[in-house]
Amino acid sequence: MPLFPITRLRRLRASAALRALVRETELNMRDLIYPLFIVEGVNLQQEIGAMPGQFRWSVDRLPRIVEKIIAAKIPAVLLFGVLEPSSKDELGSASWNDNGIVQQAIRAIKRLAPELVVITDVCLCEYTSHGHCGVVRDGRVLNDATLELLARQAVSHARAGADIVAPSDMMDGRVAAIRTALDREGFTDTPILAYAAKFASGFYGPFREAAASAPQFGDRRAYQMDAANAREALREIELDIAEGADLVMVKPALAYLDVIARARARFDVPLVAYNVSGEYSMVKAAAANGWIDEPRIVMEILTAIKRAGADVIITYHALDVAQWIVDSG
Ligand code: PBG
Repeated sequence: MPLFPITRLRRLRASAALRALVRETELNMRDLIYPLFIVEGVNLQQEIGAMPGQFRWSVDRLPRIVEKIIAAKIPAVLLFGVLEPSSKDELGSASWNDNGIVQQAIRAIKRLAPELVVITDVCLCEYTSHGHCGVVRDGRVLNDATLELLARQAVSHARAGADIVAPSDMMDGRVAAIRTALDREGFTDTPILAYAAKFASGFYGPFREAAASAPQFGDRRAYQMDAANAREALREIELDIAEGADLVMVKPALAYLDVIARARARFDVPLVAYNVSGEYSMVKAAAANGWIDEPRIVMEILTAIKRAGADVIITYHALDVAQWIVDSG
């Protein structure tokens, strides 16, 4: 590249139109997934204290939010079940009940908006009395005994009409177990979105309040990944693809942009990033204090996640972002 004064990079920054012309990364609402918390009961829209602007919805209230999602042209939702303690047990058996809360929500959304892509989180922590993501014996989370339960849950979601199932438990071998079970039950065309590189992260704090899924003892470090490891994240992704994952995820997003970039460079499957609850809540808290410009910060964060290489972003900001994209023309 010739040097100054021949080269002046500022030339292409002179006007909004020029900047738009050469912009490398653009956010699009078509690439966003909006998470929804589904709660037992009727006529409920409970605001989540640690996540201002996010709610737990009872199934009968879903039309209200689904209409907004459709109007915003957001193509997909990710469902989580929120259960009363009395509905939970040691094995999380409510998770594979064909009439469970998530299964009811899937059917309701499919009736309201058949074209909306319904993705379900497949995990046990929202359904177990101990709050861990698998079967617990002697204070340990058992890997192999958990696989069958996850497979049952995924099949139940598919039977209810889920378009994609997304295991988030971090057991080894769960993608293969779920693929085998789906295929056996005739759901050969239901894709799996694997939470492939899911780190043990403090950024999930607000979610655990939202989903009432905090572990009752210990933590998740014996199954979720160590925050220090990027090469291991690539191995996780590689294994999940080999087991049959159709899409893979890196989670959280913002503190793991290097992992997103390395995954993008190495693998050709669709790459999803989860802009998680803590990332959302920090922005909301700072904005509520008047310390930052919320739309500007959110757009910058999500653009960075996309620039790093994510094709799709799961974010609680999705409805706001869709509006800001429209407003900015
Ligand atoms: C369930 C699950 C969690 C999240 C998504 N699925 C919580 C956890 O693993 O503790 C976190 C999502 C968020 O923080 O927004 N295993």
